[in-house]
Amino acid sequence: MALLDTSIRGGLVKIRIAVVVCVAMLLGGVGAQAEDAKLINGYRPTWWKDAVVYQIYPRSFKDSNGDGIGDLKGITSKLDYIQGLGVTVIWLSPHYDSPNADNGYDIRDYRKVMTEFGTMADFDTMLAGIKKRHMRLIIDLVVNHTSDEHRWFVESRKSKDNPYRDFYIWRSPKDGHEPNNDPSFFSGSAWQLDPTTGQYYLHYFAVKQPDLNWDNPKVRSEVYALMKFWLDKGVDGFRMDVIPLISKDQTFPNLTPEQLANIGKAYANGPHMHEYIQEMNREVLSKYDVMTVGEALGISLEQTPLMVGDQRHELNMIFNFDAIRLNRGAGNKWRAWTLPELKAIYARHAAELDAHSWDTVFLSNHDSPRAVSTFGNDTDTYRVASAKLLTTMLLTLRGTPFFYQGDELGMTNYPFQKIGDFDDIEVKNAYKAQVLTGKVSEADYIANLRRTSRDNARTPMQWDTTANAGFTTGTKPWLAVNPNYTKINAAQELKDPDSPYIYMQKMVKLRQATPAFVYGDYKDLDPPNPAIFAYTRTLGADRYLVVLNFSDHPADFVLPDGITPGRLLISNEDGTEPSAGTLHLNAWEARVYRD
Ligand code: NOJ
Ligand code: CA
Repeated sequence: MALLDTSIRGGLVKIRIAVVVCVAMLLGGVGAQAEDAKLINGYRPTWWKDAVVYQIYPRSFKDSNGDGIGDLKGITSKLDYIQGLGVTVIWLSPHYDSPNADNGYDIRDYRKVMTEFGTMADFDTMLAGIKKRHMRLIIDLVVNHTSDEHRWFVESRKSKDNPYRDFYIWRSPKDGHEPNNDPSFFSGSAWQLDPTTGQYYLHYFAVKQPDLNWDNPKVRSEVYALMKFWLDKGVDGFRMDVIPLISKDQTFPNLTPEQLANIGKAYANGPHMHEYIQEMNREVLSKYDVMTVGEALGISLEQTPLMVGDQRHELNMIFNFDAIRLNRGAGNKWRAWTLPELKAIYARHAAELDAHSWDTVFLSNHDSPRAVSTFGNDTDTYRVASAKLLTTMLLTLRGTPFFYQGDELGMTNYPFQKIGDFDDIEVKNAYKAQVLTGKVSEADYIANLRRTSRDNARTPMQWDTTANAGFTTGTKPWLAVNPNYTKINAAQELKDPDSPYIYMQKMVKLRQATPAFVYGDYKDLDPPNPAIFAYTRTLGADRYLVVLNFSDHPADFVLPDGITPGRLLISNEDGTEPSAGTLHLNAWEARVYRD
């Protein structure tokens, strides 16, 4: 201040001050202050923190040519519908050339579009349409493994001295058997004997998904080159498939019984994992303005800052599966979950991830059953209210929210009856390993899958009441449409001001107008309450109160001292207002107040 006052004495003094200020900035003083001024509650704001993400599973989104398979032209035709929600980023599940052993997560050519989905020109048109609507696109990066039909593997398996041999992980038999006891995520051993050379190759997923050898620098530089190929095209980042699995302990010790109970954890965090992700950041990511989100299978919450900490130069954020897997017990079997358990997860996230480690929040994706069927109540009575309640929660919790296609409509699980109703390779392999061997009864197997199968999320989008829900003009979609499409569909919801779609539109707007929901502190007001989830988000003097009744019954919430709900900003019920001291909520009612 004193320096500024002297500046009025004359030009010369002003110049002296300017020099002093510049020197100070150079030394970091004022520069650091200016930098700090850009922080919001300690967070450095960026577009990917402000983002609301919508995931598209292309096979099931919209078919444009009647072959029963969703495609890129179909997506382009629905961009207005997506933009209408107010979401800012689209995550596209794999669109690359693939023989589809695992629906595109087995890539044959990283620089080609899957024939069923269209052409590179269709991709360019789709991307331009996304940009024109001021949205961004992140694509799936699947580089832990390729398809066995990728030319690298076709070469690799030819002979032990092929130049591509070392692109994959090959081992000789041990005592005439597999090199160790590693199981595949899709049943059976993770090792497959290849008759041409008499050696085994490693595949953590399907036999047709051999794992790449990331210890080979040539593999890493090929991956970085293909990433640049797509970034130079204009995509805005990547969702990275099973990225914690890329580095293996290549001595391959046998897994212990404890490790066998959680192979995700056993396979993650290999000796060079951080080194390789940092190298990828240095070589590629740091050169672009991108969003990166790792599918962090096997990474604990405590380990998360090592991957997303802003000084680590690895990834922006990861998916932690504690919440979405709350309905799973041993052997991936369905279990009943409780609200205090869910709240405890979000409380742990708030405690472990500070302003330097950004988070994500989500309850669905293409690998999980439908959110409303798992975390809400998908009966006719409560489906609409509970779908809106989940939308309210996801858009007011900490972290970048991710929605999966159909969540906005409150789409539900499918009434699976028999093994033939499923498409998923995981389901088919486990059926052979568990049911056909007599370990599990067919009835139990199907009953469990009805609640847990990832095919629940993969049934086609429900666009309208015409045949096959308007997903395809063909006679047979690749996976059956949920018969409830006559009442749950986009055409009907766009017309209905009380629909889950229109509610999400309003909620997204509210989140985007309210920095406290993105950058504010989080406080759970009543952790043990089994029915009500009530929390505040606070940014400076701005405080917001969110109250959610996660039950099929009306419930009261006694406001803690110091919490005085002011204006009701949004609710999934009509005209509810605070009553002094106690809030009376209907079943599955959700309210957001400005405190
Ligand atoms: C995770 C993906 O989300 C899943 O769909 C896929 O089956 C596996 N990774 C293998 O790529
Ligand atoms: Ca098609």
